[in-house]
Amino acid sequence: MMKLNGAGALRMKADITEINTYAKQWIKEAGERIRASFPKTLDIQTKTNANDLVTNIDRETEQFFIEKIKGTYPDHRILGEEGYGDKLDELEGVVWIIDPIDGTINFIHQQRNFAISIGIYVDGVGEIGFIYDVVHDELYHAVKGKGVHMNEEKLPKLKNRKVSEAIIALNATWITENRRLKPELLAPLVRAARGTRSYGSAAMELVYVATGRLDAYITPRLAPWDIAAGILMVKELGGVATNLRGGPLNMLEENSVFVASSGLHAEIMKAYLKSGEW
Ligand code: IPD
Ligand code: CA
Ligand code: CA
Repeated sequence: MMKLNGAGALRMKADITEINTYAKQWIKEAGERIRASFPKTLDIQTKTNANDLVTNIDRETEQFFIEKIKGTYPDHRILGEEGYGDKLDELEGVVWIIDPIDGTINFIHQQRNFAISIGIYVDGVGEIGFIYDVVHDELYHAVKGKGVHMNEEKLPKLKNRKVSEAIIALNATWITENRRLKPELLAPLVRAARGTRSYGSAAMELVYVATGRLDAYITPRLAPWDIAAGILMVKELGGVATNLRGGPLNMLEENSVFVASSGLHAEIMKAYLKSGEW
């Protein structure tokens, strides 16, 4: 696929509005289908391990998006968690990065605390992000340079808080013995923060940072579809999204992820993440 510049880039800019309109329509429709599935029995299967679950609804939702996208935009490519999209080793052109249900364990056990997450990238740059809290009918929506909305309501820029006043999203696993992080790295941060939370959906945790319900989110391994939309929202509101070493996030591979308002990000980087060998 060719890189767009000049007239091509202009056409692409115009298309963003149209893509946005379709994406919004499709995501709402997918949400309706998920809500309609609640009374039905789920077909649940395991993937890489006993706690890595997938349901028929995860699969059907991804297939629904692929049909809509390919039917309208045959040249757009799709990176989807359940593997019905394309195999990508670069991000040229328009790429939809889709997690049909982020928080599948919550979806199965709780029928809440999950979301549809879609990030739309053009030549590797995040242009549009949607995270749909299906149960509450709350559609979080970012367009690069145009801010972030929850349904029709515009979200304010992130507030800076110190660690001592911050609520940090962090899974308890990372301060017990594990293969990815030394427990003693994050334990002092947990002690210093006002509180910690863990919601079991990366997309929701990113949205909660965007809304100020959380001040930071730290986790050692996420896939592109977990973060493609959420990091756009945090960045659009003045926050910082990096890996745990403070470096850029790569949408073609797994990353460690650390998002926060800029002052808090700098404080945690300096005082905690850079302090230990991990
Ligand atoms: C998972 C959730 C979870 C995170 C996992 C993800 P899934 O996504 O976002 O919060 O800790 O790493 O895989 O499997 O429910 O789409
Ligand atoms: Ca996910
Ligand atoms: Ca998923």
